[in-house]
Amino acid sequence: MEPASGVTKRLVERLSKATDLAVLTGAGVSQESGVPTFRGEEGLWKQYRAEELATWRAFEGDPGLVWSWYDYRRQLVSDTEPNPAHTAIAELEKGYPHFSLITQNTDGLHDRAGSSAPIELHGSIWRARCTAEQTVCDLLESPLPDVPPHCPTCGALLRPDVVWYGEPLPMDAYEHSHQIASRCDAMLVIGTSAVVHPAASLPLVAKHNGAFVVEVNTAYTAISALVDATLLGMAGDLVPEIARRVLEAVGSPGGATNPVSRTASA
Ligand code: APR
Repeated sequence: MEPASGVTKRLVERLSKATDLAVLTGAGVSQESGVPTFRGEEGLWKQYRAEELATWRAFEGDPGLVWSWYDYRRQLVSDTEPNPAHTAIAELEKGYPHFSLITQNTDGLHDRAGSSAPIELHGSIWRARCTAEQTVCDLLESPLPDVPPHCPTCGALLRPDVVWYGEPLPMDAYEHSHQIASRCDAMLVIGTSAVVHPAASLPLVAKHNGAFVVEVNTAYTAISALVDATLLGMAGDLVPEIARRVLEAVGSPGGATNPVSRTASA
């Protein structure tokens, strides 16, 4: 692990030589947009008890309460904008022949920033799932006209299309993310405390398979001792600097890099 430092020349060189970059984000990447994280001082789990709001049991007991909390979070997110870290991640995508974005966030800000296909490991607060038919639909109106909302086709209760504590991740999303972590040659881990598995194991899978793993965080985390470099600072400052310097290094101002020439230099 390199000691905490800025965006060093060596780090830029290593990232720009990669041909398959994976980015894993957590709530910290949205913090500068004004979206609370979960475990920080102002985090959601400091104000609310996860087991009272983010579990199937809580939903079964009081669907109205759980949906009121999600309606509050949806309204909060709909009043925010993607920040420079989200935008820089969308820019970075153009600089690599193979690029994947895996997020634990459910706020939809990566989509709004222009990332093409974020893998939403924990689902999205902008989708809902019918508790009877298990069909998934977009649920974009904020605030919700009805709390709790019901399925437009069968009338059963809808639930947020997110992964609650104790629930398995969507199998396709997790398998795809594990494949990405196993094959990438560089991984950027941005704004996650890396304490919730299985997402938190992805950087270790990447490292185990020889990838150059860099984390960006305002504090050390559970994986800091295992990654190649920890950049301590705000994602909104560090990620745009990384993106600018890496895209310069690969000679792709608009991001369009020539995979053939790049592979040759890798
Ligand atoms: N820039 C960079 N990092 C930041 C910033 C910032 N501006 N603000 C906060 N952080 C860091 C914190 O230091 C912390 O390590 O972001 C991390 C946020 O950690 P958590 O609140 O634990 O969020 P996350 O890691 O995404 O949680 C994972 O837990 O409750 C579940 O489903 C929920 O997806 C979530 C999962």
